[in-house]
Parts: sequence; C-alpha cells; structure tokens
Amino acid sequence: MKAYYHARAGEYDDWWLGRGLFADRARPGWDDELATLAAALRNLPAARTLDIACGTGFLTRHLPGEVTGLDQSHAMLELARRQAPRAGFVRSDALELPFAPRSFERVFTSFFYCHLVETERPRFLAEVRRVAGEVVIVGSRPRGTEPRARWEERVLADGSRWSVYKRVFEKDELFAELGPGRLVHEGRWFVAVSA
Ligand SMILES: C[S@@+](CC[C@H](N)C(=O)[O-])C[C@H]1O[C@@H](n2cnc3c(N)ncnc32)[C@H](O)[C@@H]1O
Repeated sequence: MKAYYHARAGEYDDWWLGRGLFADRARPGWDDELATLAAALRNLPAARTLDIACGTGFLTRHLPGEVTGLDQSHAMLELARRQAPRAGFVRSDALELPFAPRSFERVFTSFFYCHLVETERPRFLAEVRRVAGEVVIVGSRPRGTEPRARWEERVLADGSRWSVYKRVFEKDELFAELGPGRLVHEGRWFVAVSA
C-alpha cells in the first residue's frame, strides 16, 4: 500500500475531482456530497488534530484548529504542504506515531483505516488512543452487494498494476470497531464517524 500511494501521489486527487482515469466514472451526486462532507468537517469543534495518512491534504485543509498532517510518502506531503498551507506536516509511519501520549485532542483519518488488514487495525487503534481522545474516521459506504472487504486491482496512468486491500463500511460497523460515538456525515458515497 505504501509504494502504491507514493507512486500515485501526482494523480491522487483525480479520484476526488473526477479527472484523468476517473473522468468517465458515473458518480451521481459525488461533487455535492463532497461539499457537504467538507462542510461537516469544517463544522467540527476546533481541536488540536493529527491527520493520519493525510495524502495530498485534500481534506486536511477543511479541518478546524491546529492541524498536523502525517504521511509516509514525501511525494504526498509535498502536495499537501501546498494544498493545506495552514497545517504542519510530518513524515512517519501511521502504526508507530512519533508523538507522546495525549499530544493531540483528535485524530482524523480519511480513506486509510479502510486499507488496514485485520492484524494492522488493533495496532493502529492502540496508537490512535495513545495520542488522542477522539478519532474521526472517513471512508466509503458499500454499494449494492459488493463485498465489504476485498483485494482490488488498481492501475495507474503509467499502466503499472497494484493489488490493494480495501473495505467499505456502514456507520454501525465502524462504531462496533471503535466504540460508541456520533455520526459526522452519511451520504450515498461517504461515511464519517467520531468516536
Ligand atoms: C487512500 S490515501 C488517503 C489520503 C487522504 N487521507 C485522503 O483522504 O485523500 C492513503 C494514504 O495513506 C498513506 N499511507 C499508507 N500507509 C501508510 C503508513 N503505514 N503510514 C503513514 N501513511 C501511510 C499513503 O501514502 C496515502 O497518502
């Protein structure tokens, strides 16, 4: 997953924006829902926030309060520094956070928890609980009868092929793993919870 996203950095936001390889995807309501999700994030109470696996900073720029973005890929971080200039950034591994206990009030993480395999999830959540009292997780909602967890074959613009693990979830499935919390956003495409 690390090598794939590093290689994808320059074309990553094409997924958010429906450009490049994503230009032909039929995603009714996607742009409107993205605006609604961004507004829901801006409306969170301001907090000292660590955005884990922040990627290009596409959602980082909407987070209120003092924000630190963390990612393993320097290519992603270079883009994030431009896209979310208010935030500070750190290159590190999400499963071994270089921060003291309770360094943050909130961990935010979007489209990352969904890529962790079963053995990585408890490690990640232990790190999250160590550094902050709240976690906000954003992911994709299931569509139709698609499997909730699967290995997907992904292709980049240079034709390279990658195998990526991905889960989709409903809010209750997230609460079952994270503990009780509240819904931040639920639409056709995205779900976001705070726990
Ligand atoms: C699907 S992207 C999500 C980016 C961003 N959060 C968003 O919603 O647009 C996954 C991100 O996780 C990062 N990543 C993957 N494994 C990581 C790890 N072990 N530690 C830190 N970052 C990691 C990748 O570099 C990539 O930027």
